Amino acid sequence: MEGNRQPEVNIGLVGHVDHGKTTLVQALSGSWTDQHSEEMKRGISIRLGYADATFRHCPDVDEPECYTVEEECPDGSESEPLRTVSFVDAPGHETLMATMLSGASLMDGAVLVVSANEPVPQPQTEEHLMALDIIGIENIVIAQNKIDLVDSETARDNYEQIQEFVEGTVAEDAPVVPISAGQEVNVDLLIQAIQEEIPTPEQDPDTDARMHVARSFDINKPGTTYENLTGGVLGGSLIRGELELDDEIEIRPGREVEEGGQTEYVPIETTIRSLQAGGESVDSVTPGGLLGVGTGLDPSLTKGDALAGRIAGPPGSLPPTWEEFTMSVDLLDRIVGTDAGDVEEISTGEPLMMTVGTATTVGAVTSARSGECEVKLKRPVSAEPGAKIAINRRIGARWRLIGLGTLQE
Ligand code: GTP
Repeated sequence: MEGNRQPEVNIGLVGHVDHGKTTLVQALSGSWTDQHSEEMKRGISIRLGYADATFRHCPDVDEPECYTVEEECPDGSESEPLRTVSFVDAPGHETLMATMLSGASLMDGAVLVVSANEPVPQPQTEEHLMALDIIGIENIVIAQNKIDLVDSETARDNYEQIQEFVEGTVAEDAPVVPISAGQEVNVDLLIQAIQEEIPTPEQDPDTDARMHVARSFDINKPGTTYENLTGGVLGGSLIRGELELDDEIEIRPGREVEEGGQTEYVPIETTIRSLQAGGESVDSVTPGGLLGVGTGLDPSLTKGDALAGRIAGPPGSLPPTWEEFTMSVDLLDRIVGTDAGDVEEISTGEPLMMTVGTATTVGAVTSARSGECEVKLKRPVSAEPGAKIAINRRIGARWRLIGLGTLQE
C-alpha cells in the first residue's frame, strides 16, 4: 500500500457542532486510516486535529464515480492517486474563535459542513463562515450533510437556505454538494468539487522556509537518561520553502528568560535532526499537512507546547518580534454567533485577544484612534508587517471575534 504521501494542500473543515465533520473525515480517509506512525499519533496529532486523505481516480470510470478514496475501483480495476490533502479540523464545540482562526491561517481552502436537517445558519456555521470571509479564504466547498435524514422537499428548502445565507460572502459561488457522510452517499461528488475548487497552491522552492509552530513536545518517556534523550519536537505547518535534515533553524520570538525581574525573549537556534510528514520519516519537506520537526533542543524547552505560536526558518530570515505594535482595524458590523449585538469601537485600556498566525496573545490597548490602535502585548509575536490579526474582545464569558487587524510597519 502506498498510503504515505506528503499532503500538498491544507483544507479547513468547518461547521457547526455535530453537523458531521468527524464522520466526513472518516468517509474521506477510506480504508487506510492507520497511516500515522506511533510517534506521530502520540506526539503530534494536533490540537487543531489534522487528518490526511488521498484522493484517487479510476481511469476507466465516468465522472463522478471515478473519484474515490478506495484503491479498488467500482469496475474492479486499481485506482491511481491524485493527491493527498490534509484536513484541518476546527472543532465546532471549541468556543475560542482563535483556535479556528489560527488554524485558518494555514488553510488553502475550506469545506463548510452544513446539516440538512436543521435551519440555516446555526451559530457556528455563521461564525466559521465569517472567519473564512475575514481571512479571505476563497476556495470553499459546502457539504450539505445528512441528506439521508430528510425528504427531498426538506433537502431542497435547506439547499435554498444555504444559498441565501452565503449570498454576499466569500462562499457566494461555492458549490453546494448534498452528501451523507454517515451513509457515504455522494462522497465522489464531493471529492470532485474539492478537486475543482481547491487547487494545490503553487510553491516557490527557492524562497526561505517558514514554519508556523502550532505545538511543541518532549517525546521522551519519564526517567530517560540524559544520553538517551531525544531532542525537543516542534509540530506545525510549513507555509513556504523547504526544510531538510541537518538544516539550521532559528525560532522566534524564542524562549522566555527572566533577568532582574524583566522577562525577555531570546531567539533560539538549533539543527533539524529528524523530519516527519504524511506519517513517516522523510529527508525533506515542502508545504502541506502537518509536520514534525525533531531538533537538537533540550526537550525541557519544547515541553507542553512551550514553543507554540512561534515561527521557524533559516537563521536571519525571520520577521521582527513585536512587544507592542500598531494595527489598522476593520471592525465587524455586529458580533457573530448567538444573541448578536453591534460591535462597539475599541477603547484605550481595554484588553484584546489577538491571533497572529498560530500565535495567540493578549494585549492592552494603549491608544485607540478611529480605524487604528496601538497594543502592548503580554507575550511578543514575530510577524511580517502586513500580517493579518484576528481581534477578539471579551464579551460575557468568552472572547468574541470583533474584527480584523493589519500589522503596521
Ligand atoms: P464536533 O466535532 O463535535 O463538532 O462534531 P462533528 O461536526 O465532527 O460531527 P460528527 O461527525 O461527530 O457527527 C455528529 C453526529 O451526526 C454523529 O452521531 C454522527 O454519527 C452523525 N452523522 C454524521 N454524518 C451523518 C450523516 O450523513 N447521516 C446521519 N444520519 N448521521 C450523520
